[in-house]
Amino acid sequence: MSSEKNLIENVSEKQTEYINLIAEIMEVRKRGEKPLAYIRTYGCQQNVADSEKIKGMLANAGFGFVDAPDDADFILFNTCAVREHAEDRVFGNVGALKNLKRRHPQILIALCGCMMEQEHIANIIYKSFPFVGLVFGTHSLHHFPELVYNSLVNGKRVFERGNDDSKLYEGLPIKRDGTFKGWLPIMYGCNNFCTYCIVPYVRGRERSREKDLIVEEARDMIKNGYKDITLLGQNVNSYGKTIENGVNFSQLLREIDSIDGDYWLRFMTSHPKDCSMELIDTIANGTHISRHLHLPFQSGSDRILKLMNRHYDRKKYLEIINYAKEKIDGLSLTSDIIVGFPGETYDDFKETLSLIREVEFTSLFTFIYSPRVGTPAAKMDDPIPYSEKSKWFQELLAVQEEIAAKRCASMVGNVEKVLIEDEGKNGILNGRTSGNIIVELDAPTDTIGTFQNVKITNARNWILKGELI
Ligand code: SAH
Ligand code: SF4
Ligand code: F3S
Repeated sequence: MSSEKNLIENVSEKQTEYINLIAEIMEVRKRGEKPLAYIRTYGCQQNVADSEKIKGMLANAGFGFVDAPDDADFILFNTCAVREHAEDRVFGNVGALKNLKRRHPQILIALCGCMMEQEHIANIIYKSFPFVGLVFGTHSLHHFPELVYNSLVNGKRVFERGNDDSKLYEGLPIKRDGTFKGWLPIMYGCNNFCTYCIVPYVRGRERSREKDLIVEEARDMIKNGYKDITLLGQNVNSYGKTIENGVNFSQLLREIDSIDGDYWLRFMTSHPKDCSMELIDTIANGTHISRHLHLPFQSGSDRILKLMNRHYDRKKYLEIINYAKEKIDGLSLTSDIIVGFPGETYDDFKETLSLIREVEFTSLFTFIYSPRVGTPAAKMDDPIPYSEKSKWFQELLAVQEEIAAKRCASMVGNVEKVLIEDEGKNGILNGRTSGNIIVELDAPTDTIGTFQNVKITNARNWILKGELI
């Protein structure tokens, strides 16, 4: 781990040259009136944020964007490696492009993101998917235009995997998907090496962005009408550790929070081992900071937490939670849980159940353990069959459903500030509370993108129903 300052490199100028060259080439290669790109993103918000940079670069090269691959000149899948299921979906969807490429050989098909940083995956793509022309990992995002240019002019397949974490790249254009809800990366990579997790291997070591650049970006977003801004990192609580004389996460949060405007500030993901009481106080005293804490605990069993290399125990986790509940009015808690870690017994699993009963989370992201090549857990003895783990998983869902229903029912009668987000089925609009709970309501579509006061009239499982006041 480096305690030294990361070298910041502004790549804007060099990559702009390549963007202009791509624009010239695509004038000739495009199939329709303008070059079109189809970008599909798998995985977490970090990948979504990376795709927004890719779209920024492509937009500057004159590309328009389409929702299906058929008419596209450039197709890119930004992939996720966190579980086997995510990888299988990518293989299936890439395979389906074979005929399209046969019909239109000039299309460039590219794969990027976390899966592509793994050697065994890159090899499979190389051998089994010869119609894929460009493959690059998360470390290569900063020179995406150069890679595309090389693929277009050389007519050869370009494969690149990287591992240089010494630099932090700035200056890439961003085309955000949302106009009022946006992601703002504050750091990259992860140093924690939880034994089940592939992320540190595919995203590299932790690097924090300079505070002033983050605050400036937040200020711009707020000025441009963003109402819901989420600060992103694999472990935001350790923000600043790689910066000499840097501020900590609570200080960063307070500085952004002091920007005037009508907006919510969120962040993810928090790691319990680095979650300070200062952070809880910062949320409690904040003006714009949402009353929501996503604090993954993964397992309620101390024995399993140790095997997972999580560096906290159940007692420490509950201390943070109880302090947060006491300090933050109307706090909404969410978490990630893994069921069936190697060696987990039904007794360990029952500890997870008892923890979710004790905390009463609003919602949970629950996963069955998936072995990842190269991680320590993949080499551990794993005697419990998947079918048994699935039964535990169903039990967990049933318990959580009951808790979520109770939590949501307790909100009926409240008046909540809600950000109206989009139109769902039957013209019903969907919004979210500060605690990130979905609210369905009947309201005019011109309220989309605005805050409204909503009376909660009903609750169905983890979804609230309400009406405009
Ligand atoms: N950095 C975040 C989460 C990153 S991955 C954190 O530490 O909380 C998101 C979630 O995927 C994790 O919290 C974990 O619950 C789950 N996950 C990661 N690796 C997994 C694996 N091998 N099998 C099943 N779930 C996994
Ligand atoms: Fe994975 Fe752990 Fe890092 Fe989260 S903190 S990304 S679970 S290694
Ligand atoms: Fe997946 Fe990479 Fe995120 S592995 S969960 S897209 S950091």
